[in-house]
Amino acid sequence: MNGRELVRAVKDVGSARGLRAWRAALRHDRADAAQLPARGQERARVPGALTGAEPRPAGGVLRFARSELRVLVAVGGAVFWGWDGAGPTPSYALAGGEPEPDPRAVLEPDTDGGWRVVSERATVVVSRTGTVEVRTPGGTVLRRDLPPRWWEPGAVDGSPGAVEGRPGVVEGSRRVVDGSPVGAPGARGALGGAHEGARWLQRSEVAADARFFGLGGRAAGPRLRDGRYRLWNTDPKGGFGPDDDPLYITMPVQLVVADAGTHLVFHDNTWDGRVTLREGEEGAGSGQDRPGTSELRMDGGPLRTWVLVGTPARVLQGWAALTGAPAVPPSWALGHQHARWGFGSAAEVRRVVAGYRDRGLPLSAVHLDIDHYDRHRVFTVDREAFPDLAGLATELRGQGVRLVSIVDPAVRAAEDEPLYREGRAAGAFVRDARGREVRGEVWPGECVYPDFTDPAAREWWSGLYAERLAQGFSGVWHDMNEPVSFRPYGDMTLPRSARHALEGAGGDHRQAHNVYALGMARAGYEGLVRLRPHERPFLFSRSGWAGMQRYGGTWSGDVESSWPGLRASLALVLGLGLCGVPYSGPDVGGFGGSPSPELFLRWFQLGAYLPLFRTHAAIWAGRREPWEFGPEVLEHARAALAERERLLPYFMTLAQLARRTGAPYVRPLWWSAPEDRALRDCEDAFLLGDALLVAPVLEPGADRRAVRLPRGRWYDTATGTPYEGPGQVLLDAPPGRIPVLARAGAVLPVAGADGLELEVWAPALGRTGGGLLVRDAGDGFEVPEVERFTARWRAGEVVVTRDAALGGGGTSGSGEGPEPGLPVRVRGA
Ligand code: NOJ
Repeated sequence: MNGRELVRAVKDVGSARGLRAWRAALRHDRADAAQLPARGQERARVPGALTGAEPRPAGGVLRFARSELRVLVAVGGAVFWGWDGAGPTPSYALAGGEPEPDPRAVLEPDTDGGWRVVSERATVVVSRTGTVEVRTPGGTVLRRDLPPRWWEPGAVDGSPGAVEGRPGVVEGSRRVVDGSPVGAPGARGALGGAHEGARWLQRSEVAADARFFGLGGRAAGPRLRDGRYRLWNTDPKGGFGPDDDPLYITMPVQLVVADAGTHLVFHDNTWDGRVTLREGEEGAGSGQDRPGTSELRMDGGPLRTWVLVGTPARVLQGWAALTGAPAVPPSWALGHQHARWGFGSAAEVRRVVAGYRDRGLPLSAVHLDIDHYDRHRVFTVDREAFPDLAGLATELRGQGVRLVSIVDPAVRAAEDEPLYREGRAAGAFVRDARGREVRGEVWPGECVYPDFTDPAAREWWSGLYAERLAQGFSGVWHDMNEPVSFRPYGDMTLPRSARHALEGAGGDHRQAHNVYALGMARAGYEGLVRLRPHERPFLFSRSGWAGMQRYGGTWSGDVESSWPGLRASLALVLGLGLCGVPYSGPDVGGFGGSPSPELFLRWFQLGAYLPLFRTHAAIWAGRREPWEFGPEVLEHARAALAERERLLPYFMTLAQLARRTGAPYVRPLWWSAPEDRALRDCEDAFLLGDALLVAPVLEPGADRRAVRLPRGRWYDTATGTPYEGPGQVLLDAPPGRIPVLARAGAVLPVAGADGLELEVWAPALGRTGGGLLVRDAGDGFEVPEVERFTARWRAGEVVVTRDAALGGGGTSGSGEGPEPGLPVRVRGA
């Protein structure tokens, strides 16, 4: 028990909930002891020597003495390899099932008795001992995976079929998996290939100058320094800061940026794991480079790897093609939103909304937390506190404010609970190896958990959102879905021995845990689309996994109310964006504390430039309404809100572009210049789309800050002063604003006093610039066109034209394409 656990344990003793949590913990531990297979003697195995090769479409199979390796290049350039017969499917991450093979990629002999597959973007070279290298088309090595190592139960000889996984038996309306440990050491089958239960280790080397990013939402990022990162979705409980790891969303996805090129590597495996990163060193020791290393240890599951190579933009595009396009939030979800755990009543919600309205502050949504439920039970309403919730929703909607509802997965386990009875009849809840419901402790008391890896359970759950829509809610906020079961010590989740359907393959919680929330998001999203086919759902989820962007976004979770917490919340948004999840944002002000006016203001100013812009706080925390921090903060918050409103057309464009290209709205400074090493190490600023560079204030007492600039000319948007990058400049950051710079030549759509207009930042003399606009086409699934604009100097003036190829509008009379058809405001000229 660590210090924090001890505090938790002491606090819990004595309360009824604490007692139940203790009981649940002991029950879970007992179940694991009895039902999880013991790891007896283990035997290590490596692939051994290459014995043969068999070309197949888009790659082939390489046989080794004790394993085999399948290599495949997919259309679009993504490269796959899987050991021990693992193929790309089944997979929770991939959006479209088995990826289409690229017939141009062919397996051919390499020097030294190895083999290679040459493709458009990358060459994969496999040595005689099973080292796999990914090289650029020019031949530079981006990544070298040494031969993997497995540990298998000593009693099993590692040959295929030692213990066959059982698909499960049907009992009543529910498929249960019998007591045998499918997915136990040595077992074959379940999701993704052989040896589900064998532990394995993959050591990889990257360039000495490489930097690591990603692995989901990490408080310590965005640059992942030397250390160990766990792959197990976790509620850190009690508010996290930069030292807390892991958090709610972990993903075996790394973006590696080096001089030689950028690549994304994805180990498609949902099991618990650890990644140990060590950055390399150039000219180390005897003057030789020491490569960077990544060591991945997994507790089970298939050893299969995807690699995408290219510029950061290409890599993210490939990742979205593989795992799914990010859902576009409805336009209102790009405005400012206000949440609180503990509004407590309709009157308090009205008071807060009126507070915004009376002060002329824009507000697009209010989020109701678990206190609006009847005794914390999901899909219910406290009728005393909210006598007419649907009426309240209509009333607020008339003022342009939507309601968003929290949705927790755990269902109170009691005979008088209709939802419990319904779910039980549908066979929807997670059971143990003996077929008994697995019960945990959450807000409503003793609870059961829908098995979101079971299509039938998802189907049942997805229908429940009808109740939320009937209450007038416009969006949902999935919480506690790691999933959480309170306990005074140890891992606050379900026992590892709990059984899951895993799409029919059967397995236990070790394999299902990390995709639990992904399945819940899928159920919620599909339910909402079915119930309201003409509206894009608004869904964001605390936990998730690779591919969650298909269904929605996420938020920081319980980030601590401190300056380090503020920094961590930016790291999270950046890191998640690089893992393909572009829509997220922090609890502005932090979750559990009472931020100083200065901290609140700086957080608010950062939040105004992040996709999800939401104030939120715990029931015990201080207020978060901007007027609660004094008149000065109020006026500065007003300015931040006004700027957010002005930028809404730009945010909508970024949301639509994220769907088309996979590019996150919020990008690290190295996004278009990964070769600039100083940018790779810069963690305190970001690009918002192509046009803006935002430099938040992350320290107390600062009224100016250093800002690192990528190459080219950048204008301070407050003063219009131009600066030339690359380099570092010192900019004013008075309480009223944080530095925001615009790239010379940028054309960005903004909301002017009379509607949509184009803001243009003068290109450097002799250069051109440009920008994109995707108009808000309502909150349905229409796919609006992308409009392109070019900015250039003509006769001493900056002019903007619409790209001729896309047509529309009159011509400018210069053969340069038609006029933009929108008011243009030139700045910096
Ligand atoms: C934990 C969530 O992270 C937080 O945002 C929420 O307010 C509480 N659960 C209560 O529902």
